[in-house]
Amino acid sequence: MAKKNIKGMFITFEGSEGSGKSTQAKMLHSYLRQKRYSVVELREPGSTYISEKVRKILLNPKNKSISDICEVMLYMSARAQLVDEIIKPALAKGKIVICDRFLDATVVYQGYGHGLDIRAIKQIGNFVTEGINPDITFLLDIETKEGLRRAGRVKDRIELRSLRYHLKVRNGYLDLAKKESKRIKVIRVDKNNRFITQSIIRDFIDKLL
Ligand code: TMP
Repeated sequence: MAKKNIKGMFITFEGSEGSGKSTQAKMLHSYLRQKRYSVVELREPGSTYISEKVRKILLNPKNKSISDICEVMLYMSARAQLVDEIIKPALAKGKIVICDRFLDATVVYQGYGHGLDIRAIKQIGNFVTEGINPDITFLLDIETKEGLRRAGRVKDRIELRSLRYHLKVRNGYLDLAKKESKRIKVIRVDKNNRFITQSIIRDFIDKLL
């Protein structure tokens, strides 16, 4: 059976640690494939040969000496490669692109979290993404301590940061969602189980397609 064609849609998942967004991104991917849409599922940082190499540098707890600005630029570099190699061509072909994190994550983790200039992050972000913005973003919101507990005991370089840092990340996401309420849909995951979350997301996407 032929694949269904649409104009191309860019869906992103965001959330703090332990929010279950990666699982939801995967479940949405299988759902849309079953409905015969042409879908690409990606993660950030990562999903290309180069971007996965950058991911390894970023998340390795041994890399303690990475400066704050170097960290932003590494996330941006991984993103530039992913946009150029996969996201842009896929959208041009009318595919649905699902990405587990995107530029919002840099605004929140490096901007709100580390206190770096949010305007500068957005400007550099606009340059590396070539102006490509998500059509819809699902922000899976979880109480910070509960999220860190769910994330488990083996932690990467970012997860190892203080509770204070992770609280800033959560508040940053919620603030961003208030500012961009049309694009960012907030789903409280500690109030819903993962199947309820899944059906909220499916209903939403079904209405858009
Ligand atoms: P993940 O947990 O979704 O795989 O993401 C990897 C980590 O990288 C996570 O702790 C969030 C962090 N991160 C940033 O700090 N800035 C970014 O721009 C992105 C994409 C992720």
